[in-house]
Amino acid sequence: AVLVVDFGAQYAQLIARRVREARVYSEIVPSTMPVAEMLAKNPKAIILSGGPSSVYAEGAPSVDRALFEAGVPVFGMCYGFQLMATALGGTVDNTGSREYGRTALHVSQADSTLFGGTPDEQQVWMSHGDACSAAPEGFTVTASTDVVPVAAFENDEKKLFGVQHHPEVMHSTHGQQVLEHFLYRGAGIEPTWTTGNVIEEQVAAIRERVGSSRAICGLSGGVDSAVAAALVQKAIGSQLTCVYVDHGLMRKGETEQVEKDFVAATGVQLKVVDAQERFLAALAGVSDPEQKRKIIGREFIRVFEQAQAEIIAEAEPGEPVEFLVQGTLYPDVVESGGGSGTANIKSHHNVGGLPEDLEFSLIEPLRQLFKDEVRMVGQELGLPDEIVHRQPFPGPGLGIRIVGDITRERLDLLREADAIAREELTAAGLDRDIWQCPVVLLADVRSVGVQGDGRTYGHPIVLRPVSSEDAMTADWTRMPYDVLAKISTRITNEVPDVNRVVLDVTSKPPGTIEWE
Ligand code: XMP
Repeated sequence: AVLVVDFGAQYAQLIARRVREARVYSEIVPSTMPVAEMLAKNPKAIILSGGPSSVYAEGAPSVDRALFEAGVPVFGMCYGFQLMATALGGTVDNTGSREYGRTALHVSQADSTLFGGTPDEQQVWMSHGDACSAAPEGFTVTASTDVVPVAAFENDEKKLFGVQHHPEVMHSTHGQQVLEHFLYRGAGIEPTWTTGNVIEEQVAAIRERVGSSRAICGLSGGVDSAVAAALVQKAIGSQLTCVYVDHGLMRKGETEQVEKDFVAATGVQLKVVDAQERFLAALAGVSDPEQKRKIIGREFIRVFEQAQAEIIAEAEPGEPVEFLVQGTLYPDVVESGGGSGTANIKSHHNVGGLPEDLEFSLIEPLRQLFKDEVRMVGQELGLPDEIVHRQPFPGPGLGIRIVGDITRERLDLLREADAIAREELTAAGLDRDIWQCPVVLLADVRSVGVQGDGRTYGHPIVLRPVSSEDAMTADWTRMPYDVLAKISTRITNEVPDVNRVVLDVTSKPPGTIEWE
């Protein structure tokens, strides 16, 4: 693997993704991992990510010089670049000025390993305070900006490279090429990693782990759990039973879709559990988002345990149900604070929300994949497009789209509004242009309206259409006004107690995609 050392910025994930787009397998490791441990993983190359700190700040994460002396190719970006510069004897000035956003990069070595074949002038994305004024000995300076004299340096002999900008973000127009140049030319790695390999590897590993035992899998109707289930089914066939928990937080028609489409596509054994009462009771009066997530996660597991007991009771003697399959993705793992120094932003119900007394061993075959990779795996497994290209829907469902506490009435309201929005988006042919469009009920907010001749005092519905590549970052979708108008008119006309529809025009960051 190529290791991406995470210096505390969410950029590390994006870098890992870009490396995989270059068909090279990558993994993120925290910057606190000792260099010996990193090297023990036999990495093909190491990338040092950006980070929020100044290398001169007290307690700023650093890296042992040994990392640069092991003969492993290293590419430093932004903060990683400055660390490299200081560790190897270059000069980084604490300038006090900042360079932020789109910047023109002047390439001074047209045939360099990193930049050869890219334009002499290119747009890059910068975000830094300190600036490198002298490269370490033995390095060639290959680019600069109007502000920074040393914006890139390279040492082909030692296979050490660095750039001040962020090649991983879209705004760096030749970033992907620069990254690939490092991987292929600088580190000599062959681009051979594919999702096909993932399936083979996972199928073999799951077979071996499960043996003659049985597994159950929670199915939500979403892409992740569907692909995880299909993958495990390929490995162990009828030893898998899927459990679909109807927690009452699903959207309109969702249960029927799982029962029909998914079973038809995979032939999987499915058990449907109606747990609506139970979830509503556990969530009664709870309005804190983290609380909701924890409760939903906990109840999920409890319901599985019950299903497990039932499946055991029905199974032949000597067939233990030991495993629980979950569609946990790589971003879930990283965002829940697992495996790196990044902040805990939300507890995803299938990671941070797990109770401590969990009685299953987990199988998480998608744990190392990003969403688009999961879709590719699903496609390769032969799942239908309607499932593979479904817009994401969070495990806690409509429960985290009601701001305020959850009641059956509020759920019904939101379900109606959501169904209208989805219907109109589909009718307008916008499904694939929009990453997802959460519809949120502000149950704790009321506003005055007028309908017919009367005053109303109802709740607002928020439309949150976003465009994204991987849900790590997102922008609000500039969707046609006439479609918005239609959704708004229909929701206020058809959904009782809703007298206002508002559009969320916040990107991520600073907003997250969901409201809770
Ligand atoms: P945020 O709101 O963090 O969401 O920007 C990023 C993506 O993750 C989905 N999401 C979840 N998915 N369990 C899930 O399976 C969860 O607890 C959860 N929370 C958010 C969200 O819909 C978006 O696609």
